[in-house]
Amino acid sequence: MYRTHTCGELNADYIGQSVKLSGWVQKIRDLGAVIFIDLRDRYGITQLSFNENNSDLLEQARQLGREFVIQAEGKVVERASKNSKIPTGDIEILVEKLILLNSSDIPPFTIEDETDGGEELRMKYRYLDIRRNPVKNNLIFRSKVTRLVRNYLADQGFIDVETPYLIKSTPEGARDFVVPSRMHPGQFYALPQSPQTFKQLLMVGGMDKYVQIVKCFRDEDLRADRQPEFTQIDCEMAFVEQEDILQTFEGLTKHLLKEIHGLEVTDFPRISYDEAMRRYGNDKPDIRFGMTFGDLTQVAKGKGFNVFDQQGAILGIAVPGAASYTRKQIDQITDWVKRPQIGAKGMVYVKYNEDGSFKSSVDKFYTPSDLAEWAKITGAGPGDLILVLSGELDSTRTQLSALRMEMAERLGLRKPDEFAPLWVVDFPLLEWDDETGRYHAMHHPFTAPKPEDAHLLDTDPGKVRANAYDLVLNGNEIGGGSIRIHDKTMQAKMLKLLGFSDEEAAKQFGFLMNAFQYGAPPHGGIAFGLDRLVAILGGQETIRDFIAFPKNNAGRDVMIDAPDTISREQLDELHLRIIE
Ligand code: AMO
Repeated sequence: MYRTHTCGELNADYIGQSVKLSGWVQKIRDLGAVIFIDLRDRYGITQLSFNENNSDLLEQARQLGREFVIQAEGKVVERASKNSKIPTGDIEILVEKLILLNSSDIPPFTIEDETDGGEELRMKYRYLDIRRNPVKNNLIFRSKVTRLVRNYLADQGFIDVETPYLIKSTPEGARDFVVPSRMHPGQFYALPQSPQTFKQLLMVGGMDKYVQIVKCFRDEDLRADRQPEFTQIDCEMAFVEQEDILQTFEGLTKHLLKEIHGLEVTDFPRISYDEAMRRYGNDKPDIRFGMTFGDLTQVAKGKGFNVFDQQGAILGIAVPGAASYTRKQIDQITDWVKRPQIGAKGMVYVKYNEDGSFKSSVDKFYTPSDLAEWAKITGAGPGDLILVLSGELDSTRTQLSALRMEMAERLGLRKPDEFAPLWVVDFPLLEWDDETGRYHAMHHPFTAPKPEDAHLLDTDPGKVRANAYDLVLNGNEIGGGSIRIHDKTMQAKMLKLLGFSDEEAAKQFGFLMNAFQYGAPPHGGIAFGLDRLVAILGGQETIRDFIAFPKNNAGRDVMIDAPDTISREQLDELHLRIIE
């Protein structure tokens, strides 16, 4: 037996007992006549002590190094100097027997909560990074969230079904990762971007409620909230309307917030895509704070300020309590919006002073009563600072949305322990892509139009709204889904609109269209991004920190060094040739 207890378990109740512990040497303090060793395992740290009464043991302890794996047997005794910061801080083990289980090279970075290792180095030695509390705790937290999700959905009658990873391309808007087939020269599998079509086929198969916590693969550029392989909580339900799905997953979200943070969420707003764009400039608004957009386009034009007169949109936000900002601070914000990443040409500001007066960068063109009108529209009060951007509508919204988030960040309004979920509903079914000169499905090609908008499909497809919804939490898109098309004719029409010829549609989606001929029930579903959900619930936004073995920003696994070349033999077997 390697151990009788873990390193996180022993306290004053165990004083006098003989115990056996195994773990890693975290720290050695050699005081000459006494040596203290902090022994670490997943559960915590326990202090081992060695003294002159047993000089052989003392010498043995002296030979150990950081991260050596040892087993120690001894008595639990009260500590002379207690450490109230750790649960085992009242006791130590007076070691009577020490066994070296394995030695260790000196680790390339310190295995402490605050480490000296850079990101890339820690990813290369991820197994060492996982020994550190912040990473370890994130993985334990992820496991907790996953278990809560599984149990909740199982209790709701969802059946776990596995779908294949070697499939053919499902269009979800990203590029596929492909796998060459050895047995079928020149042919390729694709790794699923999501199990979308399979879960729909499970509904045709009568499974009624499906769930799968499943890896998905998308060959897209990485960001803090994106990995090329990530995990979805993927669900589908038959005989449901949008409302049934929203209720079910609102229930799941509330359950998680209750179980994890003890929060009772009563307010679970729903806003339309149009309203989200109008009020927040994006479709995943952070509603933990205000600063909603005010549209100044009508009132700010025609007053002789040339810059505004030429613009399609003039939008502003009221930054609370920021009227006292200095010229320098405001210049700094102006520089921030003018950075290429944001791309604004300039910024206009209006200070709504505490005494009710206004001071703006455009005082020459606007009277105090004009500015009072701006304040009314943006919801500014005395003490607030109104920031205004202008330009073409879409880009101005995007820029002001970024500025809104930045100001919230600066003002400390994005509190990690506050959670404000909402549904964004009524997404457009299609979006026009200038580059390809055709419509793309905003969610995916299997999403059903709203029945009341379906008549517009022939005349004004851009206006058709979808029965599609996103779950947004603290400014992050956590999940997305839709009611699906379950009618062959409608699916065929949709694919045509998306630019598929009849032959292409049959080749790519024939299996689904065929299935629709055999009694497909009305159905719909949703998928939550598990990595994102876990990160946000953990009060963070970088999903990499919640994935055991993530890829770096260039999509590489620097630990195993993938992707990598393969041998000539493998290439031949797969009928592949590298063209230099
Ligand atoms: P969608 O493409 O919106 O929907 O994806 C669902 C959720 O998955 C997460 N997500 C990601 N997380 C990390 N890295 C990525 N690269 C990544 N891409 C997406 C997001 C997102 O909200 N089949 C549909 C679901 C459905 O209609 O039922 C789908 O995949 O949190």
